[in-house]
Amino acid sequence: MTTMRAVVAVGQSYDDPLAHLVLDRSYPRPEPRAGWTRVFVKAASLNPHDLWTLRGVGHPAERLPIVLGCDAAGVTEDGREVVVHPVLGEPRRGGGDETFDPRRSILSEAFDGGLAEELLVPDHMLVDKPSSLTFSQAASLGIAWGTAFRMLFTRAGVKPGDRVLVQGASGGVASASIAMARAAGAIVTATARSEEKMRFAESIGAHTAVAHGERLAEKVDVVIDSVGEATWRHSLRAVRPGGVIATCGATSGAMPAAELQRVFYQQLSIVGSTGCTGGEFEAMLRLVESAGLSPAHEVIAFDEIREGFARLDSGEVRGKIVVDMA
Ligand SMILES: NC(=O)c1ccc[n+]([C@@H]2O[C@H](COP(=O)([O-])OP(=O)(O)OC[C@H]3O[C@@H](n4cnc5c(N)ncnc54)[C@H](OP(=O)(O)O)[C@@H]3O)[C@@H](O)[C@H]2O)c1
Repeated sequence: MTTMRAVVAVGQSYDDPLAHLVLDRSYPRPEPRAGWTRVFVKAASLNPHDLWTLRGVGHPAERLPIVLGCDAAGVTEDGREVVVHPVLGEPRRGGGDETFDPRRSILSEAFDGGLAEELLVPDHMLVDKPSSLTFSQAASLGIAWGTAFRMLFTRAGVKPGDRVLVQGASGGVASASIAMARAAGAIVTATARSEEKMRFAESIGAHTAVAHGERLAEKVDVVIDSVGEATWRHSLRAVRPGGVIATCGATSGAMPAAELQRVFYQQLSIVGSTGCTGGEFEAMLRLVESAGLSPAHEVIAFDEIREGFARLDSGEVRGKIVVDMA
């Protein structure tokens, strides 16, 4: 068969992103390319990034149609079990860090992504799948856990004993941040929009969970904020003088008040973070394995992807949604 199942963005609409989502059963299989490896995808996860692509945010219309999917785990033609490091960049162009390469891209931005039966990626984007992880666990990690790892340890410099506030509980990045900060010896508080999500945060590693915006008993050293406008004001107030706020996303809006007086008077560091290097990705996998972390996720079938994206968009997911592509 020269065709395969693939999840394709064929157009863009900010207000109705799923209008241009196609679950294609006869998409062309990728053509071989020197220096690139074919992966038979076993599992791939859904991300807000796919919805941004369908909304027309950060993805030019000229690059359509494109197969969605920032994360994948599968098997190569020679039988190697792999997980894809989702960032493609040239370290030399980024001063030794591929995430700083001005031409960096994330899987599904510059070429077809992982939500397909087959994926072709540059060889160096493949990392051996830890044997203790299932394909669906491995496919949960990718962009959410990789980004959380870099945000926590490289950009915000979290150390054992640090007090860390994670805004959000159920999200892919938030749940990864809670689990890894706890595993690294931090004292973790999470915020959530409901009692049920607060209990979820505690079940995956938060010492305490509070409602969004609630005043904390003690200020924190680091805030991890992937939510944006809905939590930014709280993030600025929850951090101690000289503390760090790390941001990687703006699900609820990207234009909160800057509150510059608070930033300079409290001497806050605000750091952005995107993706992770290959080295950070491998370190994240080692941390997950050695600490015995189990990424919160649910597995759905190919035919359930549209409904999966609708639930992701409405905030109903706990952790990640992974598609069984085998
Ligand atoms: N820069 C990067 O490299 C990078 C990488 C990954 C993700 N991102 C971005 O980061 C963001 C989060 O990604 P994700 O995968 O974690 O998404 P997700 O799984 O959809 O999670 C969304 C999170 O945002 C919270 N949230 C959403 N709307 C909210 C609102 N109105 N008020 C309060 N909380 C709200 C949710 O909190 P509750 O738990 O309380 O529901 C949840 O924790 C997205 O915008 C994504 O595009 C960026």
